[in-house]
Amino acid sequence: MNQKNQKKGIKRRDFLKTSAAFAGTAMFMGMGTSKLFGATSLPEVSIENVTLNNGVKMPILGFGTYGLNGDVCQQSVADAISLGYRLIDTATVYRNEEFVGAGIKQSGIKREELFITSKVWVDDSGYEKAKIAFETSLKKLGTDYLDLYLIHRPRGDVKGSWKAMEELYKEGKIRAIGVSNFEPHQLDDLMASFDVTPAVNQIESHAFFQQNKAHAYMKPHKIQMEAWAPLAEGRNGLFTNETLAAIGKKYNKSNAQVSLRWHYQRGIIAIPRSSQTAHRMENLNIFDFELDQSEMQTIASLDLNKTQFPEWS
Ligand SMILES: NC(=O)c1ccc[n+]([C@@H]2O[C@H](COP(=O)([O-])OP(=O)(O)OC[C@H]3O[C@@H](n4cnc5c(N)ncnc54)[C@H](OP(=O)(O)O)[C@@H]3O)[C@@H](O)[C@H]2O)c1
Repeated sequence: MNQKNQKKGIKRRDFLKTSAAFAGTAMFMGMGTSKLFGATSLPEVSIENVTLNNGVKMPILGFGTYGLNGDVCQQSVADAISLGYRLIDTATVYRNEEFVGAGIKQSGIKREELFITSKVWVDDSGYEKAKIAFETSLKKLGTDYLDLYLIHRPRGDVKGSWKAMEELYKEGKIRAIGVSNFEPHQLDDLMASFDVTPAVNQIESHAFFQQNKAHAYMKPHKIQMEAWAPLAEGRNGLFTNETLAAIGKKYNKSNAQVSLRWHYQRGIIAIPRSSQTAHRMENLNIFDFELDQSEMQTIASLDLNKTQFPEWS
């Protein structure tokens, strides 16, 4: 570590201690969880990057913003960034980009230190509409470029959207382009028709829907898998699941932390969302333990190979 980074590290560590103390206070005030899972001794957070197929580096753990809006969204994003999150995930259809933008501004962190993702919604699909949607997202987010722009769902005029996105990418307005909720045949179709291979496919993935087939398909094509709902939004009892709890007990980690560590060890980007500081800290505190092979296999055995969000299919 050079001297500059060392200094930065010390500053960050001091800040995290302060944040941890705040989380303790928040808990007494009834704002946090009842159990902090090591957050009072949160080590210096250093989130690894993965290198996308075009060389761009993307943090392997980020912050999701679906369902966050207004002041809660702004404060959550600002707080997440101050805790150490650098990847922030939003979308036109979340209708919160202006609050995400306000949170980013409030954080005071330089734009180039952040990795901002947004997504073009189905109603904006097609060449002309996607270009307008992109400019609107930029304005709302208060930025002049995006790190990653995704086609949110494989519906509507997908190829028109991709053509627009390829142009914006080649003009340098987007650092990487990708898709979301695409199945292998839909990826194939896109790759056969265009120059640029999607850098990322953001899909539902958690202990109960692991997406092993999709992952195995994407890997050799160098399409990075990113997990949405990495905690399954707690569905199917994820936060109280006894198998995850038994593994967590060994390391003094929560079911959320075991889940996020499992994503990390699989090399999959995860973007957990939380409206609570204590949970945001907890979800960052996954880099000081390692699941062994048999624990990874035990979690693999939880796969139901079925979406937990049938209403979105
Ligand atoms: N591309 C797509 O189609 C798509 C679809 C869905 C989501 N996404 C993206 O993926 C992100 C993550 O998915 P998600 O928000 O649906 O679900 P998620 O991150 O799996 O779960 C969020 C829920 O878990 C709770 N939670 C978070 N950390 C916790 C912890 N440590 N302990 C206990 N509860 C905890 C949160 O409650 P609290 O607020 O109380 O902490 C919230 O209710 C989204 O925010 C969005 O950015 C993309």
